[in-house]
This record gives sequence, structure tokens and C-alpha cells, in this order.
Amino acid sequence: MPELTEGHWLTQAVETEPKRIVYSAEAIHSRVHEIAREITSYYPPDEDLLVLGLLKGSFIFLSDLVRAINRPLHVDFIVASSYGAGTTTSGNVKLLYDPMAPIAGRHVLLVEDIVDSGNTINRLAEALGNRDPASLELCALLHKHLATDLTLEPRWVGFDAPPEFLVGYGLDHAEDFRHLPFVASL
Ligand code: IMP
Ligand code: MG
Repeated sequence: MPELTEGHWLTQAVETEPKRIVYSAEAIHSRVHEIAREITSYYPPDEDLLVLGLLKGSFIFLSDLVRAINRPLHVDFIVASSYGAGTTTSGNVKLLYDPMAPIAGRHVLLVEDIVDSGNTINRLAEALGNRDPASLELCALLHKHLATDLTLEPRWVGFDAPPEFLVGYGLDHAEDFRHLPFVASL
């Protein structure tokens, strides 16, 4: 485990800094490859798969994941926003960018960084489900298991996460720390 006492991420002039590594880069790497193998064998090889990354938080997870999936697929993105600069959800999920790719009749795999309150997923499941995908599945790197009314349960979860605010490997706090190669708690 790298020490959190030095590194370029701590040279930023921010008040809140990561305190503890929760998932190392090595642990994430091997888990991502396990999930990719499961996804590869889950979908019929000759059917159309669209991997839809929820920006911005999933960008690193998605890029590692799709490179480890061994079958044809297309990639597009969707942008939603529920958090402002804080660490608690606002409950007001806005769809800021809609995928350009057609959804109807395709297997859609939504890739999310973390499921917290579930507001984002519930909103997206509704919006995407209305467009008649052949199937709609969710793959989340982290799942806090706090949501009580999820309308789309993740079929693949990287790690069952502690109920803490996590940063790194795509996850941010007020846009800081997305580039950390591991997941840490604040
Ligand atoms: P939900 O709508 O409450 O499930 O929140 C989903 C979104 O909030 C995620 O896609 C993240 O962008 C953000 N989020 C939730 N928990 C965390 C966290 O612990 N760290 C960083 N971002 C988080
Ligand atoms: Mg975020």
C-alpha cells in the first residue's frame, strides 16, 4: 500500500485530504478483471452491447473495464448530476447529457462509480428503460448498500463500500482527487 503521507495529490491547497486507502490500485485491478470476465460471458456474443458510462465519476473504471471485456461493444456516455460541491446527495438528479447512441433493442450496460442514495440510478433507470433497450443492467464499482428503494439493482459490484465519503479512481470531492490510482476515504 502506498503511504498517504506524500504524493502529488497532497500538494493541492485543499482543506480536505484523503486519510486512508480503502481499495489499492492492485485490488481494483484484479476485481475489474474478474467483473470483465463475468460480463464477457454474460452477454450472447453475437448481440449488440452498449456500455454507457455515467460521467464523470465512472471514467477511469469504465476505461479499465471495457479494455478487459473480450467481446464487441460500443461505448457512450451519459451525464447526470446530483451532488453539488458537498458530500451529501441533493436528491435533485439532473440529466445533463443524453447519449447520442440509439438505445432501443440493444443490451445497455450502465457503468456507475458508486451507488449511494440510489437517486441517480433510479432516475437513469427510468429514463433509459423508457427507450426500450433489449436489456438494462448496472455495473457499479462501489455499492454503499444504503439505498432502500433501488429500481435497478447492480448485477455487478466491484466492492461493497463502507458508508464513508470515498475519493479517487474517478470519484471526486468538489472535483479534487479523481486522478488518484486508488480509492481513499476523506
Ligand atoms: P446517489 O444518487 O446518492 O446514489 O449518488 C450517486 C452519485 O453521487 C455517484 O455517481 C457519485 O458521483 C456521487 N457519490 C456518492 N457517494 C460518493 C462518495 O462517497 N464519494 C464520491 N462521490 C460520491
Ligand atoms: Mg461526483
